[in-house]
Amino acid sequence: MPVRLKSSRALCGLAMAAALLLSSCSAPAQPAADTAPESPAAPAPVDCSVDACVALTFDDGPGKYTDRLLDELAEAQAPGTFFVLGKNVPKFPEALRRMVAEGHEIASHTYDHRDLTKSTREQIEREVSTTNKAIDEAAGVTPRLLRPPYGAHGVVYDRLIPMPLVLWDVDTLDWKTLDAKKTVATALDEVKPGSILLMHDIHESSVQAVPKLASKLKERGYHLVTVSKLFESRELKPSKAYSRLENPGTKLAEH
Ligand code: NI
Repeated sequence: MPVRLKSSRALCGLAMAAALLLSSCSAPAQPAADTAPESPAAPAPVDCSVDACVALTFDDGPGKYTDRLLDELAEAQAPGTFFVLGKNVPKFPEALRRMVAEGHEIASHTYDHRDLTKSTREQIEREVSTTNKAIDEAAGVTPRLLRPPYGAHGVVYDRLIPMPLVLWDVDTLDWKTLDAKKTVATALDEVKPGSILLMHDIHESSVQAVPKLASKLKERGYHLVTVSKLFESRELKPSKAYSRLENPGTKLAEH
């Protein structure tokens, strides 16, 4: 390297002697073009209407294990979708900023996990708006999607929610077994192209399940994507509920 520096200085000297206008000689060296590595969780360029995709989703956080989960997802190069509770957001704003920076999707799981089918119109509207506001204040993004607590929904209530409702087709039962191995086994038993897997980042065992689950899914040829990426080729409508990508692509990846 010193040799190159020396010769480039010599080159500049020559140029100036020749009275050429070579403004770069006096300018400090330009920093190298943006060589920052891509975010480790950035999704691969895939088309889920062709490729076999699945979405890992995490509910009820952010919580004390969320940072560890973000570490695991980064290590696995797996983007996730976080259905956060508005009331938890001000406690862990940094986790939300990290989600955005690392290519994950933030979505709403209402403010305080209220059963929307047992709520008034005013309560539902408040659950939606206060959560969106909390997410925006913490991370500067507006969530596109909402997952109703308990998966409880119905046409009358859904009409009051101006966002697509996202459910799941694979319930890992992580909250019930609190066992990483069982969580992985259940997920792998039930997963298929277009699946949405339900997990919870408020349980340590769920976070522990992620490295194995992500690597096994990749071994089987799945692309791990956010929910919005999963449905990229379809139009998600407000007030409509979706539990998996219908007629998904099935082309397996070579990871
Ligand atoms: Ni929940």
